[in-house]
Amino acid sequence: MKIRVLSLFPEMLEGFFESSIMARAVKKGLVEYELVNIRDYAVDKHHKCDDEVFGGGAGMLMLPDPLGRCLDAQGARDKRTVFMTPSGRLFNQAYARDLAAEEELIVLCGHYEGVDQRIIEEYVDDEVSIGDYVLSSGEVAALVLVDAVFRLIPGVITGESLEEESFGGAEGANLLEYPQYTRPSLYGTMKVPDVLTSGHHANIAGWRLRESIRKTLAYRPELLASAGLPEEVKRLLAEIVIEGGSHEPYPEDPGRADKA
Ligand code: ADE
Repeated sequence: MKIRVLSLFPEMLEGFFESSIMARAVKKGLVEYELVNIRDYAVDKHHKCDDEVFGGGAGMLMLPDPLGRCLDAQGARDKRTVFMTPSGRLFNQAYARDLAAEEELIVLCGHYEGVDQRIIEEYVDDEVSIGDYVLSSGEVAALVLVDAVFRLIPGVITGESLEEESFGGAEGANLLEYPQYTRPSLYGTMKVPDVLTSGHHANIAGWRLRESIRKTLAYRPELLASAGLPEEVKRLLAEIVIEGGSHEPYPEDPGRADKA
């Protein structure tokens, strides 16, 4: 996949593309990227990229002329182009999967109050928000989107890791990931749940599914409201609710039980 991020502050993005899993994906040739400075497309002496909002109001808007030239230079009309804004559709894992299937992706970072609406109408496929809060720059939001997308490209990380994580679709449901433990099995007075050291794979899988459902019920109950929940998940959910499991600490997790 080739990812182009269009920004007034590309230096904010460089470290991300040069580090860790992204750097490895780039080295392996799975990801190509270009950080494009929108200001390079401002033709006036001062490289002006923003101006006041027609009709009044606080803040400045990004000018359509430099942005249009910049987007044309990237061929944005023929490529999937998203604009990061708190007034967009809410980003989620399903949308990340959808974007990960693209050969090329253009991510436009907003700054100031945003961009002129005509640019959105002319070039943008989706306006995307990463959550119900306002950031001071679209660059941070763009990195969240790019990070969620590129790791889904085949070969970037293992399929097993993807399947088991939150929203990965384990059991065909949108569940949060179960709690995990590593060595030592006794940390202070807190012991790893016995089932996880039993070597019994079916019991481990059962415990993990149950804990995923319990955690989802506690933190994100709306994810369990879907009509399409698999039968096994529905059955366990009913058991957990009958046990009063929603806001209880995890009994198998002594750390939380101690604090309760
Ligand atoms: N720019 C500022 N806040 C944002 C948000 N929540 N999502 C996407 N872009 C943004």
